[in-house]
Amino acid sequence: MEERIVSGAAEVNELHEEQSLRPQTLAQYIGQEQVKNNLAIFIEAARQRQETLDHVLLYGPPGLGKTTLAAVIANEMGVQMRTTSGPAIERPGDLAAILTALEPGDVLFIDEIHRLPRAIEEILYPAMEDFCLDIVIGKGPSARSVRLDLPPFTLIGATTRAGSLSAPLRDRFGVLSRLEYYNKDQLKDVVMRTADIFGTEIDPSGAEEVARRSRGTPRIANRLLKRVRDYAQVRGNGTVTFEVAEEALELLQVDRMGLDHIDHKLLKAIIERFRGGPVGIDTIAASIGEEAETIEDVYEPYLLQIGFLQRTPRGRVVSELVYSHFHMEVPAE
Ligand SMILES: Nc1ncnc2c1ncn2[C@@H]1O[C@H](COP(=O)(O)OP(=O)(O)O)[C@@H](O)[C@H]1O
Ligand SMILES: [Mg+2]
Repeated sequence: MEERIVSGAAEVNELHEEQSLRPQTLAQYIGQEQVKNNLAIFIEAARQRQETLDHVLLYGPPGLGKTTLAAVIANEMGVQMRTTSGPAIERPGDLAAILTALEPGDVLFIDEIHRLPRAIEEILYPAMEDFCLDIVIGKGPSARSVRLDLPPFTLIGATTRAGSLSAPLRDRFGVLSRLEYYNKDQLKDVVMRTADIFGTEIDPSGAEEVARRSRGTPRIANRLLKRVRDYAQVRGNGTVTFEVAEEALELLQVDRMGLDHIDHKLLKAIIERFRGGPVGIDTIAASIGEEAETIEDVYEPYLLQIGFLQRTPRGRVVSELVYSHFHMEVPAE
């Protein structure tokens, strides 16, 4: 799969840099008002009772702020956060080592929790419910199971695919929060905040233009801002104006809706080869030479979100919005 500037997933070189851009408190965390309001109450209640916070599951598309929010929660609770991920925990011993090293009250953050092996999940159940660990010592007839007490902790799981989490695991979270795509004003705030951290001069209209093309996703907003800042420095006087943002983003081939050539290829294939649909996902996949799963997980979600694509029982259909976006006539029935 080729790398896209409008991908919600982090590029390898971004992982480190993002740390400095992450909000630390709920007050600094932009948007997601409902999720924040709920969490603020749960956090305060837990603090008043001097208890750990219930286990929290954060889900939603990549780049919307799950990892950031986990760290904010730990910070607001005044505890340490230990971080791991589903694919990193291969054997029961890996999880046991992490759990027994926790301090009372700590947050354990498991990213991509839907990728935890099933055998590991089962160890997690008693850990989440009763803060204990059942471990088997020895092998064969002499093997015996020992129960270890763990310090009370809060598990925060993050996933882009809540649907692929097993029901027993999902049921053990007390708080389930879905992160939503950000609206343009919220993204504009993200862009202004990041520009401030970078020390980049930016006009509100410049920030708005970056926000408009960022697909509702803070990670993309920050990435686009970085490229636009370079352009402003080389081609302008360093300030990100509306014109600078527009020119830079046109050059990067990110259009006014935040669509890139891959979105164009997908939408145009449906229009030109399948008369706008409905067409089945496998047929589309074969026609543009991509995996159906990639289309469903990576290409489609934002197009569905903005109403450019619709899912029907008979397949995908492009909406009239797409024709006007491409300055094309809507075909007669
Ligand atoms: N609510 C927010 N306010 C400000 N910046 C945000 C917010 N959410 C995410 N970001 C920025 O977007 C980047 C990606 O967020 P991250 O938490 O890593 O997303 P996820 O874990 O959902 O993929 C972070 O570097 C952070 O700076
Ligand atoms: Mg993350």
